[in-house]
Amino acid sequence: MIYSRIAGTGGYLPDKVVTNADLEKTVDTTDQWIQDRTGIRERHIAAEDQTTCDLAEQAARKAMESANVTSEDIDLVIIATTTPDRVFPSTACLLQQRLDIHGCAAFDVQAVCTGFVYALGIADKFIKSGTHKCALVVGAETLSRIVDWKDRTTCVLFGDGAGAAVVRAADEPGIMSTHLHADGKYENLLTVPAGVSQGYDQILQQSAFIEMKGNEVFKMAVNTLGRIVDETLEANQLQKSDIDWLIPHQANTRIIGATARKLKMPMDHVVVTVAEHGNTSAASIPLALDVAIRDGRIKRGEILMLEGFGGGFTWGSVLLKY
Ligand code: ACO
Repeated sequence: MIYSRIAGTGGYLPDKVVTNADLEKTVDTTDQWIQDRTGIRERHIAAEDQTTCDLAEQAARKAMESANVTSEDIDLVIIATTTPDRVFPSTACLLQQRLDIHGCAAFDVQAVCTGFVYALGIADKFIKSGTHKCALVVGAETLSRIVDWKDRTTCVLFGDGAGAAVVRAADEPGIMSTHLHADGKYENLLTVPAGVSQGYDQILQQSAFIEMKGNEVFKMAVNTLGRIVDETLEANQLQKSDIDWLIPHQANTRIIGATARKLKMPMDHVVVTVAEHGNTSAASIPLALDVAIRDGRIKRGEILMLEGFGGGFTWGSVLLKY
């Protein structure tokens, strides 16, 4: 049996920081409101000439360094992103070229905030099938480009960043299970209602922004993430107490807290980085994972549950032994 295992991780946040106090100057909000409702203190915003691929490259190079692999070792490149550099080529192809990787499969995955979980699930299946040995899996976003900075109900929530993992074939798990779901009937609760074949003009006029029914998204996220915890534990015949670390999508500390309670997981075993970067969509889980691996909290052999929820709706989990 072939398994896949995380060999190294990397993360990158752009230099420019926008604090809650900065937003107080541009929209009718307060630091107190943002912190109480979301736990977010600041977010990082890409420079004008910085693209999703630029952020992805920084995170990918760090992940490759920590996994001790070179461009020649990588035989699969997957980027989860909702904010690609171009309509085509895919951001994965652009990244492949930057990293001097040639010939292997490279493609983008669009599952919004669940994107990294989807991408990891896909990489795991490629590796388990025996066809691929070393995947570069990235979540990268420049969400600031699709945020209406005049809309206080959304602009306080999001930020830019990238996180990456190198996933290699191994004799033992590694990734124990992945659970991926979607239900398109919720398409209008969280959306950017423009695109190539549905209102490209809006994009050209810079008016295609995130629209969200925050309350409904909140309730769905809490309920759905609770269910995915049960599904994951049952599939692996594990108890809640078997999980060492929860690495949730970083959208909101209240959503994270509710999932942690469901798992009966003490908060000091939940990785929370949302205060420092806000909701970075597909980048948020790999960013959080990288922080907790690099600061030594997560150790080899521990059991991690990664779980995400996002537009679509999409949702999913990855259970793995680090
Ligand atoms: N500053 C001050 N007041 C604000 C702000 C703001 N930035 N935004 C909204 N308000 C006001 C509203 O206008 C409303 O005022 P009113 O009572 O006079 O009408 C009041 O605050 C309460 O608004 P609610 O929307 O009910 O506030 P709620 O407690 O639901 O918090 C929030 C809003 C933070 C968006 C919450 O619903 C949420 O986190 N939802 C999940 C959204 C999310 O995370 N989306 C990301 C993508 S999906 C995902 O990643 C999981």
